[in-house]
Amino acid sequence: MGIENRVALITGSASGIGKKTAFRMAQNGAKVVINDIVADNVEQTVDEFKKEGLAVIGKVADITKKVEVDRMMNETVETLGSLDILVNNAGMERAGALRNLTEADWDITINVNLKGAFLCSQAAHNHMVSQNYGRIINIASRAWLGGAGQAPYSSAKAGVVGLTRVLALELGRKGVTANCVAPGLIHTPLWDDLPEKNKAFLLSKQPTGKLGDVDDIANAVMFLADDQSGYITAQVLYVCGGRSLYSG
Ligand SMILES: NC(=O)c1ccc[n+]([C@@H]2O[C@H](COP(=O)([O-])OP(=O)(O)OC[C@H]3O[C@@H](n4cnc5c(N)ncnc54)[C@H](O)[C@@H]3O)[C@@H](O)[C@H]2O)c1
Repeated sequence: MGIENRVALITGSASGIGKKTAFRMAQNGAKVVINDIVADNVEQTVDEFKKEGLAVIGKVADITKKVEVDRMMNETVETLGSLDILVNNAGMERAGALRNLTEADWDITINVNLKGAFLCSQAAHNHMVSQNYGRIINIASRAWLGGAGQAPYSSAKAGVVGLTRVLALELGRKGVTANCVAPGLIHTPLWDDLPEKNKAFLLSKQPTGKLGDVDDIANAVMFLADDQSGYITAQVLYVCGGRSLYSG
């Protein structure tokens, strides 16, 4: 039971949800790979975790570049012996009304959130299939259901849900599961910077009336990553305080 001795690679894990998930996995006995595009942040996160006595290595890679992704996966297997859990977490958003969004806004949002998840899953699946075991967990968003002002992001995250369903179909008989966690409003520094009026509006749409925490998302990822979750695949697990009841 659990994830002890499993090798877990979490993309974009030098910050936020990814960092907390990586920490929790390492605390529970996994050998963790911290990936991020920002080298200093990878180094700092690895140092922090090592001071806590956790088994962790760092890999700087831009997940939108196939050559960097393939190298990271191969080096992970060479160094740690396998690749058992992949969390496609790295993401970002360019928001705005349709008329104001640029081609560059669209491209970067689709590339980081969707192309990155595709490239990492493609590179990881060979290793997983050869060992007849794997857990792929994609961090989507409640926003895949649709959000005004979120054309690139909602589209990218809807793509992530589609990708997850394909992975589940293609890899199901090879011992590999693929699921999404779809966070809603999560307490991050971005939230603290919002004007009070915006905060009140957003909270008014939350059935639970409150924000989630990075730990809420890490809990869901840990559940899906567990050895015992092998019969759960192709699912979207919302962790959003009920906000998935509404789109928009
Ligand atoms: N925070 C929320 O409220 C929320 C809600 C719904 C979904 N999500 C999703 O959760 C995930 C994590 O979000 P977060 O709030 O922790 O964000 P964050 O900005 O704190 O962390 C994202 C990390 O991804 C890294 N990254 C960006 N582009 C990269 C690339 N090309 N290659 C490698 N790393 C890259 C960043 O450097 C950063 O460290 C994202 O996929 C996001 O869309 C977050």
